[in-house]
Amino acid sequence: MKEKLEQIRAEAARALAAAESLQAVEDVRVQFLGRKGRITEVLRFLGQAPPEERPVLGQAANEVKAALAADLERRKAELEDREARKQAQSRRLDLSLPGRRPRRGHAHLVPRVAGQIVAIFSEMGFQVATGPDVETEYYNFDSLNTPADHPARDSHDTFFVKPGVVLRTHTSPVQMRVMEQMKPPVAIVAPGRVYRVDYDASHSPMFFQIEGLLVDRGVSFADLKGTLMFFVQRFFGPDTRLRFRPHFFPFTEPSAEVDISCAICSGVGCRLCKNSGWLEILGCGMVHPEVFRYAGYDAETYTGFAFGFGVDRIAMLKHAIPSISHLYENDLRFLEQF
Ligand code: DAH
Repeated sequence: MKEKLEQIRAEAARALAAAESLQAVEDVRVQFLGRKGRITEVLRFLGQAPPEERPVLGQAANEVKAALAADLERRKAELEDREARKQAQSRRLDLSLPGRRPRRGHAHLVPRVAGQIVAIFSEMGFQVATGPDVETEYYNFDSLNTPADHPARDSHDTFFVKPGVVLRTHTSPVQMRVMEQMKPPVAIVAPGRVYRVDYDASHSPMFFQIEGLLVDRGVSFADLKGTLMFFVQRFFGPDTRLRFRPHFFPFTEPSAEVDISCAICSGVGCRLCKNSGWLEILGCGMVHPEVFRYAGYDAETYTGFAFGFGVDRIAMLKHAIPSISHLYENDLRFLEQF
């Protein structure tokens, strides 16, 4: 019987060594120590042994039982430990790996160019003024000497909010709002959104303009030219040339459109300037006396100049962007280039 116990113990040890999971360990326990287990079975035969041998055998059986129970616990702990290590391994943090940097955004091209333009005029002493996007017909048209039958008031160009109220079609109404608020000298630039019923490669229903207005005693066309020259050479480069073409605007007299030598080919001729060597960039002129009358300024005492241009257009010319829609489609492949 003693041999039998030794044999069982050896068998149990082998089974335990082969047990690779907690369930397998439990199976070994049931097989050897369970109610119908091998050791229990041996103990049942203890009664058949000679009485003098019984205590020794009983003790031996209990020792094997205890040893086996201890082995089971050890194996169980071993497997649990192994499992824990495996889990830790799979979740391990490698703090030496370089982090994934959040992608950094930047200002959109149009407001950035607007900022650059404003900065150049600020250097010359111009202040920044603003006005509302939803504007009255009075400020957008009437007070700027644009009579009701002027083509610019055609509903094809203008978004109407309700009778008498429009989305401003240009930043020029800010001129009138500023003049109503302050007496000369006035020197302001007014950046902002404007709206027109227009949509193709060079037109967007919403785009950006910057307005300029300078009023004082003795302001001349030469001051206008000098101011624009300073701006253009600062923005497009010192070799940029400038030319004035006579034009018509209701709120200025005389009026002109201004071209610059092509920013891409410097006047030689290319696709951007359609081989003319020149790019139209803005409208300008001397403030019309009628506009001063609306503003309550004495046209005998004061003169002034005004100008207005599209920020989008300036940005497109500077960076040779073929379609204005690129600016508003929010395609990162485009936006990231600037
Ligand atoms: N408001 C004009 C436009 O949107 C641009 C313009 C032309 C503004 C002449 C002016 C100016 O201030 O004097 O087309």
